[in-house]
Amino acid sequence: MAGTKTNNKDMYYPSKEIIEQANVQDYEKRYKYSIEQREKFWEKEAENLDWYETWQTVLDDSEKPFYKWFKGGKLNIVHNAIDRHLKTWRRNKLALIWEGEPGDLRTFSYHALNREVSKFSNILKSMGVKKGDTVTIYMPQIPELAFAMLACAKLGAAHSVVYGGFSVEALAERVFDARSKVLVTADGGYRRGKVNDLKGIVDEALKRSPTIESCIVVKRTGHEVYMESGRDFWYHDLIELPIACNGGCETEKTDAEDPLFILYTSGTTGKPKGLVHTHGGYAVYTSTTHRYVFDIKEEDRWWCAADPGWITGHSYIVYGPLINGATVMMYEGAPNYPYPNRWWKMIEKYGITILYTSPTAVRGLMRFGDEWPKRYDLSTLRLLGSVGEPINPEAWRWYYEVIGQKRCPIMDTWWQTETGGFMITPLPITPLKPGSATKPFFGNEIGIVDDQGKEVSTGEEGKLVIKAPWPGMARTIHGDPDRYVQTYWADYKKQGWYKAGDSARIDEDGYVWIIGRIDDVIKVSGYRLGTAEIESALVSHSVVSEAAAIGLPHKLKGNAIHAFVILKDGVQQSSQLGEELREHVKQEVGPIARPEDVTFVDSLPKTRSGKIMRRVLKARTLGEEVGDLSTLEQ
Ligand code: PRX
Repeated sequence: MAGTKTNNKDMYYPSKEIIEQANVQDYEKRYKYSIEQREKFWEKEAENLDWYETWQTVLDDSEKPFYKWFKGGKLNIVHNAIDRHLKTWRRNKLALIWEGEPGDLRTFSYHALNREVSKFSNILKSMGVKKGDTVTIYMPQIPELAFAMLACAKLGAAHSVVYGGFSVEALAERVFDARSKVLVTADGGYRRGKVNDLKGIVDEALKRSPTIESCIVVKRTGHEVYMESGRDFWYHDLIELPIACNGGCETEKTDAEDPLFILYTSGTTGKPKGLVHTHGGYAVYTSTTHRYVFDIKEEDRWWCAADPGWITGHSYIVYGPLINGATVMMYEGAPNYPYPNRWWKMIEKYGITILYTSPTAVRGLMRFGDEWPKRYDLSTLRLLGSVGEPINPEAWRWYYEVIGQKRCPIMDTWWQTETGGFMITPLPITPLKPGSATKPFFGNEIGIVDDQGKEVSTGEEGKLVIKAPWPGMARTIHGDPDRYVQTYWADYKKQGWYKAGDSARIDEDGYVWIIGRIDDVIKVSGYRLGTAEIESALVSHSVVSEAAAIGLPHKLKGNAIHAFVILKDGVQQSSQLGEELREHVKQEVGPIARPEDVTFVDSLPKTRSGKIMRRVLKARTLGEEVGDLSTLEQ
């Protein structure tokens, strides 16, 4: 039976088949239990993992807000994601199906994955990487990216993946902040048929990165690159050395609270925040959310079409699905290359059963029309997912009707780099409203509140807070615990709530509608960028005196960056200079940060204390009411 729709409330109900096979059958009762007995709920979920030693305390809240989960427990996320499967029939199950943009195909069983990861671990070990170190990974979307992450975790070292779309300054800053001695990269990657010269960017970044001693380079594109003797090593040479292939590599026994990775994300200042996630709570949280929300079954072929360089890829390409023993699809390139049928062709070819992507990708593919997906057999799909920004109802309906053929519920998952996994999300059994992430996941109590912490009325916009800790939460900001407290916990200190930085509302059915960011973060095509990062890239150009960046609505990208620039005295404005500045931001931060346009101005609206009032700039540009201007410098 296809999903049906009620007209009055625009509610979409899952079919009987979907409900019958769902891993969770009862939301309300179980939710109530998970709130009343939070620790018991999570303890039970933690028992699905293999632990070398059981925890003494499920939740230690003695140093709020630095919560600890499964304290005293010992495990390794890689033992759970790989090693334990090798003792079962899953040894020969496909762990990873990878397709490169040029059409090349590589597949790895859990057995093969273990061999690859073990070799990589041995190489890292031979370069001195050990527990307590952080390895920076800057790669295209190739299998070695996942191998490198898992290899670090296997040794008990942390990884810091820097998204391959970032550029020189962004990479150098992250390498430095993490104090990495080893960098893993590739010569390049493919994107829209072109070679993305990653190693060229690395060479520039390493000139500013004194901590790096060794750089491992995977050959992907084969274009000519500079290799510095004594520093740069080809991966394909290293894996032939006796040290790499000594049959295996022991998995380190880590504490539940040992760091698994640092992942940098944008905040309100120019300096990116390195959020720290740990082995124990993160393993429990990602695997539980993945199993319940995406209803993972042994025979599924799961495709999360994000980049592993972002939290979505960390949690739901690599760790969550592998812990659940799933078969994971990974694709290197652009969704519409060489034609807009690329994704649909892959779904047909590999028999994908669950597709999880972003509204921006859906909108991007929707504009090519229905003919492209309609030529393919998409009947294997049973669930769809969305993440990264609010999905507009038009894109939701197209995704539901044309891709899911009215058969596949859409899991619109709200979460963040900081949360580690889904926080507000439907389950397959949840009646859906297009554009709403529906209700909180088990164990999560949320609130939509005003500045004093008072719940706003039904339907009113307020600030989204999370009222109790959850196992997947980031533990701190690397090297800056004060900033962690200040950014997330200071506003509602009295109540002990986590401030998400988003505004939202709840409707009369208890459904949550995310509106957007309330800080100086812009979501461009689902990617998170700080206005301060863009502004500091602009002022690093010799002609710029001051700059401000804002996000304005964009049909495909959700938001697009618009920059306002004050030039230094005597510098002539020109469209050519505007173009040069856009290119400059691209060079410094990366292509996603390239402003849509640059407007030259003589002044910027500021508060009396000198803070740029971006909301004023935004309202003025959109021709809207500017609102309260009492703090504006006149
Ligand atoms: O504004 C929310 C938006 O993305 C932000 C988190 O961005 P990031 O840390 O890059 O993580 C993205 C992937 C988890 C949130 O604060 N966001 C994420 N998912 C949704 C969303 N907005 C609306 N609906 C969503 N499903």
